[in-house]
Amino acid sequence: MTVETRGVDAALAYLRDHADDNMRGLDEFLRIESVSADPERKDEVRRTAQWVADELTRMGVDNAELHETSGHPIVTGDWLHAGEDKPTVLVYCHYDVQPPDPLDEWIRPPFEPRYEDDRVYARGSGDDKGQLFMHLKAAEAWLSGADGLPLNVRFFFEGDEEVGSLPVEEFIAARPDLLQADLAIVSDSDMHDDDGTPAITYGLRGIAYWELKVSGPSQDVHSGSYGNGCENPANVLVRMLASLTDVYGRVTVPGFYDKVRELSAEEREAYAQIPWDEGAWCKAIGVDQPMEGEPGYTLLERLSARPTFDINGVWGGYQGEGSKTIIPAFAAAKLSTRLVPDQDHREIEQLMVRHLNKIAPPTVKVSVKVIHGGQPAITPLAHPGVTIAAEALRQAFGKDPVYHRSGGSIPVVAALDDALDLKTVMIGFSSPNGNFHAPNEWMPLANYRGGLDAIVRLWGLMGEVSPKELRGG
Ligand code: BES
Ligand code: MN
Ligand code: MN
Repeated sequence: MTVETRGVDAALAYLRDHADDNMRGLDEFLRIESVSADPERKDEVRRTAQWVADELTRMGVDNAELHETSGHPIVTGDWLHAGEDKPTVLVYCHYDVQPPDPLDEWIRPPFEPRYEDDRVYARGSGDDKGQLFMHLKAAEAWLSGADGLPLNVRFFFEGDEEVGSLPVEEFIAARPDLLQADLAIVSDSDMHDDDGTPAITYGLRGIAYWELKVSGPSQDVHSGSYGNGCENPANVLVRMLASLTDVYGRVTVPGFYDKVRELSAEEREAYAQIPWDEGAWCKAIGVDQPMEGEPGYTLLERLSARPTFDINGVWGGYQGEGSKTIIPAFAAAKLSTRLVPDQDHREIEQLMVRHLNKIAPPTVKVSVKVIHGGQPAITPLAHPGVTIAAEALRQAFGKDPVYHRSGGSIPVVAALDDALDLKTVMIGFSSPNGNFHAPNEWMPLANYRGGLDAIVRLWGLMGEVSPKELRGG
């Protein structure tokens, strides 16, 4: 593989010359409060989308626009002037962020970026605005040259990823014309460690999410007058929830594992080769030891290749100071499972709804609401896009990437494959310890610099192959 060295060098030089401007741009971007879950910040989310579209236009990207959806706006834009003999890539990131609370645990407010120890701390710094920004700047660096980008690029940014990506699935069905590409590149994952080891994430778990409500008497009643006579919905809720997993965390719902693809001997061998420090992993989250977990699987396998069940929140009854003696009128919980190939989130959603209704005693009313879902995804490691991305990462970071599967979910990846037969290569630059969704989220600035370098090189390398080659056809 030869590289368009002059173009790459010029783009990298442009980034060096504009490093300070770019940090100012990142700072401005991170200050906008694009919390997709918060209805009060709806306008801020839109302002973020508009900020991205304005940047695209300013850089020289064509057709940058906001698309209205059932949720927040989707931003697209394209630069298709490299010629038909050059491949087209679709770049996806999300500009929305998780809610910042609990606020009092942040050392500096979440939307006032703090720079310390060569890190930037802010909500969205790692997940995923920092990475989106890197894609803008890498493209800008190429576009600043006379020839522009060495391949055709489409941009696809959403503002509902952190709330389930439903609008993005609708958009893919409605506007496939804006997403035609040979390969998708998604940057919404992490590097392998904090020592500059890059990673290619080749798998994601899917997700299914429910809210369960168990109702009893029409209002709270005295537990002395009615205890042992009136069913207690909170007692029932915890019994039901406890019955859904065994002590190893295995889900006991019949049929749940029917479609789970077993790891092959080769995959297990590859997992065993991944350098990984279990002690450091425990320390980073403040636990003494991992849970016992499903027998027969290593911790790393359980974290990404096995499904989960989690209670995300549970409430009901009295929660104030002191005590209050009641049988509460209801109790409720938010529940989710992470899914792995070839589980189908729609099937699992219905399986759980039926199961919960079945195990509920006739003395309570049960309602189960599906909140959102997404399919699991795997990128075949033999895909040519993986090989090229690995080379770009190697050149930028001076180290071979580790190939790992993530335990997290990014619904768009399976959706692009299902609807458009579009494969995705995931290269991410956040820290695996970067407090995603938590207080004091951070991004290593070394990864930011190396990631910019890697993306610039990636376009150079991909511009050297034919569309068909990049597709793997
Ligand atoms: N970027 C994450 C997914 C991720 C996490 C990738 C860790 C790699 C490592 C993404 O923004 C995310 O948080 N997704 C949600 C999806 C859900 C709301 C449907 C998730 O995984 O909880
Ligand atoms: Mn993300
Ligand atoms: Mn996230």
